[in-house]
Amino acid sequence: MNIVRVVVADESHYDFVEQICAEMESSAKVRGTGIAKRSPDYIKQKIKEGKAVIALDNNNQWAGFCYIEAWQSGEYVANSGLIISPVFRNLGIAKRIKKKIFELSQTKYPNSKIFGLTTGLAVMKINSELGYEPVTYSELTSDEQFWSGCKSCVNYSILTSKDFKNCLCTAMLYKPSEQKQNQKKTLTPVRNIIEKTKALNVLSHLTKLKQLVFFKIKTNPL
Ligand SMILES: CC(C)(COP(=O)(O)OP(=O)(O)OC[C@H]1O[C@@H](n2cnc3c(N)ncnc32)[C@H](O)[C@@H]1OP(=O)(O)O)[C@@H](O)C(=O)NCCC(=O)NCCS
Repeated sequence: MNIVRVVVADESHYDFVEQICAEMESSAKVRGTGIAKRSPDYIKQKIKEGKAVIALDNNNQWAGFCYIEAWQSGEYVANSGLIISPVFRNLGIAKRIKKKIFELSQTKYPNSKIFGLTTGLAVMKINSELGYEPVTYSELTSDEQFWSGCKSCVNYSILTSKDFKNCLCTAMLYKPSEQKQNQKKTLTPVRNIIEKTKALNVLSHLTKLKQLVFFKIKTNPL
Protein backbone atom coordinates (compact mmCIF):
# COMPACT_ATOMS: atom_id res chain seq x y z
CA MET A 1 0.00 0.00 0.00
CA ASN A 2 1.26 3.46 -0.92
CA ILE A 3 1.36 5.52 2.27
CA VAL A 4 1.77 9.27 1.96
CA ARG A 5 3.50 11.05 4.84
CA VAL A 6 3.20 14.78 5.51
CA VAL A 7 6.26 16.37 7.13
CA VAL A 8 7.94 19.72 7.68
CA ALA A 9 10.28 20.10 4.68
CA ASP A 10 14.05 20.34 5.12
CA GLU A 11 17.13 20.67 2.93
CA SER A 12 16.92 16.99 1.94
CA HIS A 13 13.85 17.97 -0.12
CA TYR A 14 15.58 20.58 -2.31
CA ASP A 15 15.60 18.13 -5.23
CA PHE A 16 11.80 18.41 -5.49
CA VAL A 17 11.71 22.20 -5.74
CA GLU A 18 11.97 22.50 -9.54
CA GLN A 19 9.13 19.99 -10.04
CA ILE A 20 6.97 21.75 -7.44
CA CYS A 21 7.45 25.16 -9.08
CA ALA A 22 6.73 23.74 -12.55
CA GLU A 23 3.53 22.13 -11.27
CA MET A 24 2.41 25.36 -9.57
CA GLU A 25 2.76 27.17 -12.89
CA SER A 26 1.14 24.56 -15.10
CA SER A 27 -1.79 24.02 -12.69
CA ALA A 28 -2.47 27.76 -12.67
CA LYS A 29 -2.54 27.74 -16.49
CA VAL A 30 -4.94 24.79 -16.57
CA ARG A 31 -7.27 26.48 -14.10
CA GLY A 32 -7.10 29.69 -16.12
CA THR A 33 -6.99 31.61 -12.87
CA GLY A 34 -4.12 33.49 -11.42
CA ILE A 35 -1.44 32.49 -9.02
CA ALA A 36 1.46 34.45 -7.57
CA LYS A 37 4.57 33.08 -9.30
CA ARG A 38 7.27 31.56 -7.06
CA SER A 39 10.91 31.04 -7.98
CA PRO A 40 12.80 27.87 -6.96
CA ASP A 41 15.16 30.02 -4.83
CA TYR A 42 12.23 31.49 -2.92
CA ILE A 43 10.81 28.02 -2.22
CA LYS A 44 14.25 26.78 -1.10
CA GLN A 45 14.49 29.72 1.31
CA LYS A 46 11.11 28.77 2.83
CA ILE A 47 12.32 25.20 3.28
CA LYS A 48 15.57 26.40 4.85
CA GLU A 49 13.60 28.51 7.36
CA GLY A 50 11.46 25.49 8.35
CA LYS A 51 8.36 27.20 6.93
CA ALA A 52 7.22 24.57 4.44
CA VAL A 53 5.37 21.26 4.52
CA ILE A 54 5.82 18.48 1.97
CA ALA A 55 3.95 15.22 1.33
CA LEU A 56 5.92 12.21 0.04
CA ASP A 57 4.92 8.67 -0.80
CA ASN A 58 6.64 5.32 -0.16
CA ASN A 59 8.69 5.70 -3.34
CA ASN A 60 9.86 9.15 -2.30
CA GLN A 61 7.76 10.90 -4.95
CA TRP A 62 6.49 14.35 -3.93
CA ALA A 63 2.71 14.42 -3.53
CA GLY A 64 2.07 17.94 -2.25
CA PHE A 65 3.53 21.14 -0.85
CA CYS A 66 2.65 24.39 0.96
CA TYR A 67 4.57 27.14 2.79
CA ILE A 68 4.19 29.97 5.30
CA GLU A 69 4.57 33.68 4.60
CA ALA A 70 4.49 36.35 7.32
CA TRP A 71 3.48 39.98 6.84
CA GLN A 72 3.53 43.16 8.95
CA SER A 73 6.11 41.78 11.38
CA GLY A 74 4.14 38.57 11.82
CA GLU A 75 0.79 40.20 12.61
CA TYR A 76 -0.55 38.32 9.59
CA VAL A 77 0.42 34.90 8.27
CA ALA A 78 -0.60 33.24 5.00
CA ASN A 79 -0.36 29.56 4.11
CA SER A 80 0.52 29.89 0.44
CA GLY A 81 1.43 27.94 -2.66
CA LEU A 82 -0.68 24.88 -1.92
CA ILE A 83 -0.11 22.36 -4.69
CA ILE A 84 -0.93 18.68 -4.97
CA SER A 85 0.71 16.60 -7.69
CA PRO A 86 -2.09 15.64 -10.18
CA VAL A 87 -1.69 11.89 -9.57
CA PHE A 88 -2.26 12.39 -5.84
CA ARG A 89 -5.39 14.57 -6.02
CA ASN A 90 -8.70 13.73 -4.32
CA LEU A 91 -7.03 11.55 -1.70
CA GLY A 92 -7.34 14.02 1.17
CA ILE A 93 -3.70 15.12 0.93
CA ALA A 94 -4.46 18.86 0.63
CA LYS A 95 -6.53 18.58 3.79
CA ARG A 96 -3.63 16.92 5.65
CA ILE A 97 -1.07 19.43 4.36
CA LYS A 98 -3.27 22.41 5.25
CA LYS A 99 -3.77 21.03 8.77
CA LYS A 100 -0.03 20.51 9.23
CA ILE A 101 0.94 23.96 7.90
CA PHE A 102 -1.82 25.55 9.99
CA GLU A 103 -0.40 23.91 13.14
CA LEU A 104 3.14 24.89 12.13
CA SER A 105 1.96 28.50 11.62
CA GLN A 106 0.39 28.55 15.08
CA THR A 107 3.57 27.20 16.64
CA LYS A 108 5.77 29.75 14.90
CA TYR A 109 3.32 32.67 15.12
CA PRO A 110 0.92 31.94 18.02
CA ASN A 111 -0.78 35.36 17.99
CA SER A 112 -0.98 35.93 14.24
CA LYS A 113 -4.09 36.19 12.14
CA ILE A 114 -3.90 33.51 9.45
CA PHE A 115 -5.42 34.38 6.08
CA GLY A 116 -5.83 33.04 2.57
CA LEU A 117 -7.00 34.28 -0.81
CA THR A 118 -8.42 31.65 -3.13
CA THR A 119 -10.80 30.94 -6.00
CA GLY A 120 -10.77 27.21 -5.22
CA LEU A 121 -13.74 25.56 -3.55
CA ALA A 122 -11.56 22.76 -2.15
CA VAL A 123 -9.41 25.30 -0.32
CA MET A 124 -12.46 27.24 0.92
CA LYS A 125 -13.83 23.97 2.27
CA ILE A 126 -10.61 23.08 4.07
CA ASN A 127 -10.18 26.62 5.43
CA SER A 128 -13.75 26.59 6.80
CA GLU A 129 -13.04 23.34 8.60
CA LEU A 130 -9.94 24.87 10.17
CA GLY A 131 -11.98 27.81 11.49
CA TYR A 132 -11.34 30.48 8.87
CA GLU A 133 -14.20 32.89 8.10
CA PRO A 134 -14.84 34.79 4.84
CA VAL A 135 -13.91 38.47 5.17
CA THR A 136 -13.51 41.59 3.03
CA TYR A 137 -10.05 42.43 1.67
CA SER A 138 -9.81 45.33 4.13
CA GLU A 139 -9.35 42.78 6.94
CA LEU A 140 -6.22 41.30 5.33
CA THR A 141 -2.68 42.59 5.56
CA SER A 142 -2.01 46.01 4.05
CA ASP A 143 1.60 45.02 3.38
CA GLU A 144 2.34 46.16 -0.18
CA GLN A 145 4.75 43.30 -0.70
CA PHE A 146 1.94 40.80 -0.21
CA TRP A 147 -0.27 42.52 -2.78
CA SER A 148 2.58 42.89 -5.25
CA GLY A 149 2.68 39.07 -5.29
CA CYS A 150 -0.63 39.29 -7.20
CA LYS A 151 1.10 41.04 -10.13
CA SER A 152 1.77 37.72 -11.86
CA CYS A 153 -1.91 36.77 -11.57
CA VAL A 154 -4.02 36.92 -14.76
CA ASN A 155 -6.68 38.83 -12.82
CA TYR A 156 -4.39 41.59 -11.52
CA SER A 157 -6.09 44.24 -13.66
CA ILE A 158 -9.37 43.46 -11.88
CA LEU A 159 -7.70 43.86 -8.47
CA THR A 160 -6.22 47.25 -9.40
CA SER A 161 -9.47 48.43 -11.01
CA LYS A 162 -11.15 47.68 -7.67
CA ASP A 163 -8.47 49.61 -5.81
CA PHE A 164 -7.31 46.39 -4.04
CA LYS A 165 -10.68 46.12 -2.27
CA ASN A 166 -11.99 43.12 -4.24
CA CYS A 167 -11.13 40.58 -6.92
CA LEU A 168 -12.09 37.05 -7.97
CA CYS A 169 -10.47 35.44 -4.93
CA THR A 170 -12.40 34.96 -1.72
CA ALA A 171 -10.57 36.26 1.35
CA MET A 172 -10.66 34.05 4.43
CA LEU A 173 -9.27 34.81 7.87
CA TYR A 174 -8.57 32.89 11.06
CA LYS A 175 -8.42 35.09 14.15
CA PRO A 176 -6.99 33.21 17.15
CA SER A 177 -8.85 35.36 19.71
CA GLU A 178 -12.25 34.90 18.00
CA GLN A 179 -11.71 31.17 17.71
CA LYS A 180 -11.28 30.86 21.46
CA GLN A 181 -14.64 32.63 21.86
CA ASN A 182 -16.30 30.44 19.21
CA GLN A 183 -15.05 27.24 20.82
CA LYS A 184 -17.15 28.14 23.87
CA LYS A 185 -20.32 28.29 21.74
CA THR A 186 -20.27 24.58 20.82
CA LEU A 187 -22.75 23.37 18.21
CA THR A 188 -23.97 19.79 17.99
CA PRO A 189 -22.03 17.82 15.31
CA VAL A 190 -25.08 17.71 12.97
CA ARG A 191 -25.77 21.44 13.41
CA ASN A 192 -22.08 22.09 12.77
CA ILE A 193 -22.21 20.23 9.41
CA ILE A 194 -25.41 22.09 8.41
CA GLU A 195 -23.85 25.48 9.23
CA LYS A 196 -20.64 24.68 7.32
CA THR A 197 -22.55 23.38 4.28
CA LYS A 198 -24.63 26.56 4.22
CA ALA A 199 -21.49 28.69 4.43
CA LEU A 200 -19.83 26.77 1.58
CA ASN A 201 -22.87 27.10 -0.64
CA VAL A 202 -22.77 30.84 -0.07
CA LEU A 203 -19.03 30.97 -0.88
CA SER A 204 -19.51 28.92 -4.02
CA HIS A 205 -22.32 31.24 -5.23
CA LEU A 206 -20.24 34.28 -4.33
CA THR A 207 -17.30 33.04 -6.43
CA LYS A 208 -19.57 32.42 -9.44
CA LEU A 209 -21.22 35.81 -9.00
CA LYS A 210 -17.85 37.57 -8.84
CA GLN A 211 -16.73 35.85 -12.03
CA LEU A 212 -19.91 36.96 -13.79
CA VAL A 213 -19.74 40.55 -12.58
CA PHE A 214 -15.99 41.12 -12.95
CA PHE A 215 -15.65 39.54 -16.36
CA LYS A 216 -18.68 41.50 -17.57
CA ILE A 217 -17.08 44.69 -16.27
CA LYS A 218 -13.76 43.78 -17.89
CA THR A 219 -15.22 43.14 -21.31
CA ASN A 220 -17.98 45.75 -21.07
CA PRO A 221 -16.74 48.76 -19.06
CA LEU A 222 -20.21 50.32 -18.83
C1 LIG B 1 -7.10 22.21 -5.06
C2 LIG B 1 -6.16 21.10 -4.59
C3 LIG B 1 -5.11 21.71 -3.67
C4 LIG B 1 -7.01 20.04 -3.83
O1 LIG B 1 -6.12 19.01 -3.38
P1 LIG B 1 -6.66 17.54 -3.00
O2 LIG B 1 -5.59 16.83 -2.28
O3 LIG B 1 -7.19 16.91 -4.22
O4 LIG B 1 -7.86 17.91 -2.02
P2 LIG B 1 -8.46 16.93 -0.91
O5 LIG B 1 -8.51 15.53 -1.47
O6 LIG B 1 -7.74 17.11 0.39
O7 LIG B 1 -9.95 17.47 -0.79
C5 LIG B 1 -10.37 18.35 0.22
C6 LIG B 1 -11.85 18.63 0.02
O8 LIG B 1 -12.03 19.43 -1.15
C7 LIG B 1 -12.86 18.75 -2.09
N1 LIG B 1 -12.31 19.00 -3.42
C8 LIG B 1 -11.13 18.56 -3.93
N2 LIG B 1 -10.95 19.06 -5.17
C9 LIG B 1 -12.03 19.83 -5.43
C10 LIG B 1 -12.43 20.62 -6.55
N3 LIG B 1 -11.67 20.71 -7.63
N4 LIG B 1 -13.60 21.30 -6.47
C11 LIG B 1 -14.37 21.23 -5.38
N5 LIG B 1 -14.06 20.50 -4.26
C12 LIG B 1 -12.91 19.81 -4.31
C13 LIG B 1 -12.79 17.27 -1.71
O9 LIG B 1 -13.94 16.57 -2.11
C14 LIG B 1 -12.68 17.37 -0.20
O10 LIG B 1 -13.96 17.63 0.37
P3 LIG B 1 -14.57 16.71 1.57
O11 LIG B 1 -13.79 17.09 2.79
O12 LIG B 1 -15.99 17.14 1.65
O13 LIG B 1 -14.34 15.31 1.17
C15 LIG B 1 -5.48 20.40 -5.83
O14 LIG B 1 -6.48 20.01 -6.74
C16 LIG B 1 -4.46 21.28 -6.53
O15 LIG B 1 -3.27 21.24 -6.22
N6 LIG B 1 -4.92 22.07 -7.53
C17 LIG B 1 -4.05 22.98 -8.27
C18 LIG B 1 -3.48 24.10 -7.43
C19 LIG B 1 -4.51 24.84 -6.62
O16 LIG B 1 -5.65 25.04 -7.04
N7 LIG B 1 -4.07 25.28 -5.43
C20 LIG B 1 -4.87 26.06 -4.54
C21 LIG B 1 -4.50 27.50 -4.69
S1 LIG B 1 -5.40 28.47 -3.51
